[in-house]
Amino acid sequence: MHWSDTYYGALYLDSVADLLTPELSALEAEVIATLLELAPGDRVLDLACGHGRHALPLAGRAGAVIGLDRSGAYLLRAAGFARSLPRPPRFVRADLLHQPFPDGAFDAVYCWYGSLFLFDEPGNQAALGELARVLRRGGRALVHHGNPLRLALEPAASARRTLADGSAVEEEARFDPDTGVERAHRRLVRPDGTVLAGTAMLRYYRPEEWGPLGRRAGLHTSRLTSTTGVGAGPGPLELGPEAPDLIALLEKP
Ligand SMILES: C[S@@+](CC[C@H](N)C(=O)[O-])C[C@H]1O[C@@H](n2cnc3c(N)ncnc32)[C@H](O)[C@@H]1O
Repeated sequence: MHWSDTYYGALYLDSVADLLTPELSALEAEVIATLLELAPGDRVLDLACGHGRHALPLAGRAGAVIGLDRSGAYLLRAAGFARSLPRPPRFVRADLLHQPFPDGAFDAVYCWYGSLFLFDEPGNQAALGELARVLRRGGRALVHHGNPLRLALEPAASARRTLADGSAVEEEARFDPDTGVERAHRRLVRPDGTVLAGTAMLRYYRPEEWGPLGRRAGLHTSRLTSTTGVGAGPGPLELGPEAPDLIALLEKP
Protein backbone atom coordinates (compact mmCIF):
# COMPACT_ATOMS: atom_id res chain seq x y z
CA MET A 1 0.00 0.00 0.00
CA HIS A 2 1.22 3.53 -0.80
CA TRP A 3 1.33 6.03 2.06
CA SER A 4 -1.05 8.39 0.21
CA ASP A 5 -3.83 5.76 0.24
CA THR A 6 -4.47 6.38 3.93
CA TYR A 7 -2.95 9.82 4.39
CA TYR A 8 -5.31 11.69 2.02
CA GLY A 9 -8.54 10.84 3.79
CA ALA A 10 -10.01 12.41 6.92
CA LEU A 11 -6.51 12.64 8.47
CA TYR A 12 -5.31 15.23 5.96
CA LEU A 13 -8.50 17.16 5.28
CA ASP A 14 -9.81 17.43 8.84
CA SER A 15 -6.42 18.56 10.12
CA VAL A 16 -5.82 21.30 7.53
CA ALA A 17 -9.35 22.52 6.74
CA ASP A 18 -9.06 25.43 9.19
CA LEU A 19 -5.75 26.54 7.61
CA LEU A 20 -6.95 26.36 4.00
CA THR A 21 -9.36 29.27 4.34
CA PRO A 22 -11.43 30.55 1.37
CA GLU A 23 -9.32 33.74 1.51
CA LEU A 24 -6.04 31.82 1.18
CA SER A 25 -7.45 29.63 -1.58
CA ALA A 26 -8.70 32.71 -3.48
CA LEU A 27 -5.25 34.32 -3.20
CA GLU A 28 -3.55 31.18 -4.47
CA ALA A 29 -6.10 30.89 -7.29
CA GLU A 30 -5.16 34.44 -8.29
CA VAL A 31 -1.47 33.45 -8.36
CA ILE A 32 -2.33 30.47 -10.58
CA ALA A 33 -4.47 32.56 -12.95
CA THR A 34 -1.80 35.27 -13.22
CA LEU A 35 1.18 32.98 -13.77
CA LEU A 36 -0.66 30.74 -16.24
CA GLU A 37 -2.17 33.82 -17.93
CA LEU A 38 -5.55 32.09 -17.98
CA ALA A 39 -7.86 33.34 -20.72
CA PRO A 40 -11.65 32.94 -21.09
CA GLY A 41 -11.43 30.16 -23.68
CA ASP A 42 -8.78 28.03 -21.94
CA ARG A 43 -9.32 24.37 -21.08
CA VAL A 44 -7.71 24.04 -17.65
CA LEU A 45 -6.86 20.99 -15.52
CA ASP A 46 -6.41 21.10 -11.73
CA LEU A 47 -4.35 17.99 -11.07
CA ALA A 48 -4.90 16.48 -7.60
CA CYS A 49 -7.55 19.13 -6.97
CA GLY A 50 -8.51 17.88 -3.50
CA HIS A 51 -11.79 19.47 -2.40
CA GLY A 52 -11.64 21.90 -5.32
CA ARG A 53 -10.49 24.98 -3.44
CA HIS A 54 -8.70 26.38 -6.52
CA ALA A 55 -10.84 24.89 -9.31
CA LEU A 56 -13.96 26.50 -7.79
CA PRO A 57 -12.76 30.13 -7.79
CA LEU A 58 -11.08 29.65 -11.20
CA ALA A 59 -14.10 28.13 -12.92
CA GLY A 60 -15.45 31.49 -14.10
CA ARG A 61 -12.02 32.59 -15.37
CA ALA A 62 -11.52 30.02 -18.14
CA GLY A 63 -13.48 28.21 -20.82
CA ALA A 64 -13.65 24.92 -18.90
CA VAL A 65 -12.01 23.84 -15.64
CA ILE A 66 -11.68 20.17 -14.73
CA GLY A 67 -10.50 18.99 -11.33
CA LEU A 68 -8.96 15.52 -11.11
CA ASP A 69 -8.39 13.69 -7.84
CA ARG A 70 -8.30 10.11 -6.62
CA SER A 71 -10.36 10.77 -3.48
CA GLY A 72 -14.09 10.29 -3.96
CA ALA A 73 -14.79 11.95 -0.59
CA TYR A 74 -12.86 15.11 -1.51
CA LEU A 75 -14.56 15.29 -4.92
CA LEU A 76 -18.00 14.92 -3.34
CA ARG A 77 -17.23 17.87 -1.13
CA ALA A 78 -16.01 19.85 -4.17
CA ALA A 79 -19.15 18.99 -6.13
CA GLY A 80 -21.27 20.22 -3.21
CA PHE A 81 -19.62 23.65 -3.33
CA ALA A 82 -19.88 23.72 -7.15
CA ARG A 83 -23.69 23.48 -7.15
CA SER A 84 -24.10 27.17 -6.38
CA LEU A 85 -21.86 28.35 -9.24
CA PRO A 86 -23.23 29.52 -12.61
CA ARG A 87 -20.29 27.88 -14.46
CA PRO A 88 -19.08 25.09 -12.20
CA PRO A 89 -15.91 23.08 -12.77
CA ARG A 90 -16.25 19.40 -13.67
CA PHE A 91 -14.70 16.86 -11.30
CA VAL A 92 -13.17 13.57 -12.38
CA ARG A 93 -12.05 10.73 -10.13
CA ALA A 94 -8.81 9.27 -11.50
CA ASP A 95 -5.16 8.55 -10.82
CA LEU A 96 -2.86 11.38 -11.91
CA LEU A 97 -0.41 8.76 -13.22
CA HIS A 98 -3.05 7.42 -15.66
CA GLN A 99 -5.29 10.28 -16.69
CA PRO A 100 -8.47 9.59 -18.64
CA PHE A 101 -7.85 12.42 -21.12
CA PRO A 102 -6.55 12.36 -24.71
CA ASP A 103 -3.14 13.81 -25.63
CA GLY A 104 -3.11 17.61 -25.77
CA ALA A 105 -6.53 18.01 -24.12
CA PHE A 106 -5.61 21.10 -22.07
CA ASP A 107 -4.27 24.61 -22.66
CA ALA A 108 -3.09 24.85 -19.05
CA VAL A 109 -2.49 22.40 -16.18
CA TYR A 110 -1.60 23.16 -12.58
CA CYS A 111 -0.79 21.04 -9.56
CA TRP A 112 -0.68 22.81 -6.19
CA TYR A 113 0.60 21.97 -2.73
CA GLY A 114 3.25 19.37 -3.41
CA SER A 115 0.71 16.96 -4.87
CA LEU A 116 2.57 15.83 -8.02
CA PHE A 117 5.69 14.29 -6.52
CA LEU A 118 4.40 11.72 -4.04
CA PHE A 119 6.29 8.80 -5.54
CA ASP A 120 9.83 7.47 -6.05
CA GLU A 121 12.03 9.13 -8.69
CA PRO A 122 10.69 7.13 -11.69
CA GLY A 123 7.14 7.67 -10.40
CA ASN A 124 7.63 11.43 -10.07
CA GLN A 125 9.08 11.60 -13.56
CA ALA A 126 6.09 9.59 -14.83
CA ALA A 127 3.69 11.98 -13.06
CA LEU A 128 5.26 14.97 -14.84
CA GLY A 129 5.32 13.02 -18.12
CA GLU A 130 1.59 12.29 -17.82
CA LEU A 131 0.94 15.98 -17.09
CA ALA A 132 2.92 16.84 -20.24
CA ARG A 133 0.99 14.32 -22.32
CA VAL A 134 -2.39 15.94 -21.68
CA LEU A 135 -1.03 19.44 -22.36
CA ARG A 136 -1.31 20.77 -25.92
CA ARG A 137 1.75 22.06 -27.79
CA GLY A 138 2.30 25.64 -26.65
CA GLY A 139 0.39 24.89 -23.43
CA ARG A 140 1.49 26.08 -19.97
CA ALA A 141 1.91 24.18 -16.72
CA LEU A 142 2.44 25.24 -13.11
CA VAL A 143 3.75 22.95 -10.36
CA HIS A 144 3.87 24.12 -6.74
CA HIS A 145 5.75 22.56 -3.82
CA GLY A 146 7.88 23.38 -0.76
CA ASN A 147 11.12 25.33 -1.21
CA PRO A 148 13.97 22.83 -0.67
CA LEU A 149 16.50 25.66 -0.21
CA ARG A 150 14.55 27.07 2.70
CA LEU A 151 13.92 23.66 4.24
CA ALA A 152 17.61 22.73 3.96
CA LEU A 153 18.39 25.59 6.38
CA GLU A 154 15.77 24.45 8.86
CA PRO A 155 15.13 20.76 8.18
CA ALA A 156 13.15 19.90 11.32
CA ALA A 157 9.78 21.30 12.31
CA SER A 158 7.09 20.31 14.75
CA ALA A 159 3.72 21.77 15.61
CA ARG A 160 0.73 21.03 17.80
CA ARG A 161 -2.68 22.63 17.37
CA THR A 162 -6.15 22.24 18.78
CA LEU A 163 -9.03 22.41 16.29
CA ALA A 164 -12.41 24.05 16.90
CA ASP A 165 -14.03 20.66 17.67
CA GLY A 166 -11.38 19.91 20.31
CA SER A 167 -9.31 17.52 18.14
CA ALA A 168 -5.54 17.72 18.59
CA VAL A 169 -3.22 17.77 15.56
CA GLU A 170 0.45 16.94 16.02
CA GLU A 171 2.95 17.11 13.21
CA GLU A 172 6.66 16.35 13.01
CA ALA A 173 8.44 16.97 9.73
CA ARG A 174 12.04 16.46 8.63
CA PHE A 175 13.50 17.41 5.28
CA ASP A 176 16.49 15.46 3.93
CA PRO A 177 18.53 17.79 1.67
CA ASP A 178 20.36 14.81 0.13
CA THR A 179 17.23 13.13 -1.21
CA GLY A 180 14.98 16.21 -1.43
CA VAL A 181 12.28 14.31 0.45
CA GLU A 182 10.29 15.71 3.36
CA ARG A 183 8.81 13.12 5.70
CA ALA A 184 5.93 14.59 7.68
CA HIS A 185 4.29 12.49 10.36
CA ARG A 186 0.83 13.67 11.36
CA ARG A 187 -1.47 12.51 14.15
CA LEU A 188 -5.07 13.60 14.65
CA VAL A 189 -6.64 12.76 18.02
CA ARG A 190 -10.40 13.29 18.11
CA PRO A 191 -12.22 14.32 21.30
CA ASP A 192 -13.65 10.76 21.56
CA GLY A 193 -10.10 9.35 21.57
CA THR A 194 -10.06 8.10 17.96
CA VAL A 195 -6.57 8.43 16.49
CA LEU A 196 -5.70 8.86 12.80
CA ALA A 197 -2.04 8.87 11.86
CA GLY A 198 0.14 8.75 8.75
CA THR A 199 3.41 9.87 7.21
CA ALA A 200 3.63 11.86 3.97
CA MET A 201 6.77 11.67 1.84
CA LEU A 202 6.98 14.59 -0.57
CA ARG A 203 9.81 15.26 -3.01
CA TYR A 204 10.82 18.90 -3.52
CA TYR A 205 13.11 19.55 -6.51
CA ARG A 206 15.92 22.09 -6.24
CA PRO A 207 16.02 24.93 -8.81
CA GLU A 208 18.88 23.31 -10.74
CA GLU A 209 16.98 20.00 -10.95
CA TRP A 210 13.97 21.57 -12.65
CA GLY A 211 15.54 22.07 -16.10
CA PRO A 212 16.50 18.39 -16.60
CA LEU A 213 13.31 17.17 -14.88
CA GLY A 214 11.14 19.17 -17.26
CA ARG A 215 13.24 18.25 -20.32
CA ARG A 216 12.87 14.53 -19.65
CA ALA A 217 9.09 15.07 -19.68
CA GLY A 218 9.25 17.08 -22.93
CA LEU A 219 8.69 20.41 -21.16
CA HIS A 220 10.67 23.63 -21.03
CA THR A 221 11.06 25.17 -17.55
CA SER A 222 10.46 28.84 -18.25
CA ARG A 223 10.43 30.33 -14.76
CA LEU A 224 10.92 29.48 -11.10
CA THR A 225 9.21 31.73 -8.60
CA SER A 226 7.14 31.58 -5.41
CA THR A 227 3.79 32.86 -4.16
CA THR A 228 5.57 36.02 -2.98
CA GLY A 229 7.50 36.53 -6.25
CA VAL A 230 4.59 36.65 -8.69
CA GLY A 231 4.62 40.43 -9.16
CA ALA A 232 8.36 40.49 -9.87
CA GLY A 233 7.87 39.62 -13.54
CA PRO A 234 9.75 36.94 -15.48
CA GLY A 235 13.18 36.42 -13.98
CA PRO A 236 16.07 33.99 -14.20
CA LEU A 237 15.77 30.39 -13.08
CA GLU A 238 16.86 31.30 -9.59
CA LEU A 239 15.14 31.11 -6.28
CA GLY A 240 16.58 31.93 -2.86
CA PRO A 241 16.08 30.31 0.53
CA GLU A 242 13.88 33.23 1.60
CA ALA A 243 11.05 32.14 -0.74
CA PRO A 244 8.20 30.43 1.17
CA ASP A 245 7.58 27.87 -1.58
CA LEU A 246 8.59 26.98 -5.13
CA ILE A 247 6.49 27.43 -8.24
CA ALA A 248 7.79 25.99 -11.51
CA LEU A 249 6.31 27.30 -14.75
CA LEU A 250 6.70 25.05 -17.76
CA GLU A 251 5.79 25.13 -21.43
CA LYS A 252 5.28 22.36 -23.93
CA PRO A 253 7.27 23.32 -27.05
C1 LIG B 1 -1.95 17.97 -0.44
S1 LIG B 1 -3.50 17.53 -1.17
C2 LIG B 1 -3.66 18.94 -2.22
C3 LIG B 1 -5.01 19.16 -2.81
C4 LIG B 1 -5.17 20.48 -3.56
N1 LIG B 1 -4.28 20.58 -4.71
C5 LIG B 1 -4.97 21.66 -2.63
O1 LIG B 1 -4.05 22.46 -2.83
O2 LIG B 1 -5.77 21.79 -1.69
C6 LIG B 1 -3.01 16.21 -2.26
C7 LIG B 1 -4.12 15.64 -3.10
O3 LIG B 1 -3.58 14.66 -3.98
C8 LIG B 1 -4.54 13.63 -4.17
N2 LIG B 1 -3.85 12.45 -4.69
C9 LIG B 1 -2.92 11.70 -4.07
N3 LIG B 1 -2.48 10.72 -4.88
C10 LIG B 1 -3.14 10.88 -6.05
C11 LIG B 1 -3.12 10.18 -7.30
N4 LIG B 1 -2.31 9.13 -7.49
N5 LIG B 1 -3.93 10.60 -8.28
C12 LIG B 1 -4.77 11.67 -8.10
N6 LIG B 1 -4.82 12.36 -6.95
C13 LIG B 1 -4.02 11.97 -5.93
C14 LIG B 1 -5.12 13.47 -2.79
O4 LIG B 1 -6.37 12.81 -2.81
C15 LIG B 1 -5.21 14.92 -2.32
O5 LIG B 1 -6.44 15.49 -2.67
